[in-house]
Amino acid sequence: MTRRKLHPLIVAAARGELPVWARVRTGRLTHLASVAELLTSWAAELGLDDSDRMRWVAAGWLHDSLRDEDPESLAAAAAHYPAQVQHGPAAAERLSAEGVDDRELLDAIRYHSLGHRGFGALGRYLYLADYLEPGRPYAPVENAAMRAALPHEPDAALRRVCARRIREVLNRGRPLRRETVAFWNELQRDGAADCGGET
Ligand SMILES: [Fe+2]
Ligand SMILES: [Fe+2]
Repeated sequence: MTRRKLHPLIVAAARGELPVWARVRTGRLTHLASVAELLTSWAAELGLDDSDRMRWVAAGWLHDSLRDEDPESLAAAAAHYPAQVQHGPAAAERLSAEGVDDRELLDAIRYHSLGHRGFGALGRYLYLADYLEPGRPYAPVENAAMRAALPHEPDAALRRVCARRIREVLNRGRPLRRETVAFWNELQRDGAADCGGET
C-alpha cells in the first residue's frame, strides 16, 4: 500500500537512526539491526514499494526503541499492560505523540510481543522477524527452517511462533492477554480443519 508522506522519524528509522528518546542498550542494537534486516529482505521479496519498505524497516528499528527505558516510566506510559510487554505500547504512544499517525505501523509496534487480531501485513511480519531473527538463542534449527520458507505463505510460521510464545507465557505461570488469545484464534481460522477441537 502506498502511503502519504512519511513522518521524519520513520524516514530516519528506516536509515537505522533511532529517535533521541530511544532507550536501547548497546548489546540490543544487534537485535534491532537483525529484525530490520529480515524485514528489508522480506519487503523486497514481496515487491513492496519504496514507501512500504521504509515503513517495514523503520518498524524493525523502532519496535524495541524503549526496551531499556526505566520501569517506572514504562509503567506510567503503558499502565494497562504487564511489565514484560510495556515497551511496545510505550513506544507506540511516544511515536503517536510525536505525530506519527500510521495506524498499521503503530499497532505493529504496540503489539509486537502480544500479537493482535487486527495486525496488517506489517504487524504479522514484524511479529515473525522479532522472534525468528538469527540472534535468538532458542530453537536455532527450527527458526532457520522457518526463515528459509518466508516471506511467502507466512501462516504456518505465524501459528508456530504464536504457539511457542503462548507456551512460554504458560510455562512461566503468567496469564494470557486477551489480545494474544484473539490473535491465536484468528490464526486458526485457515487451519481450523487441523485443530480437531470442539468449538
Ligand atoms: Fe520487544
Ligand atoms: Fe524485539
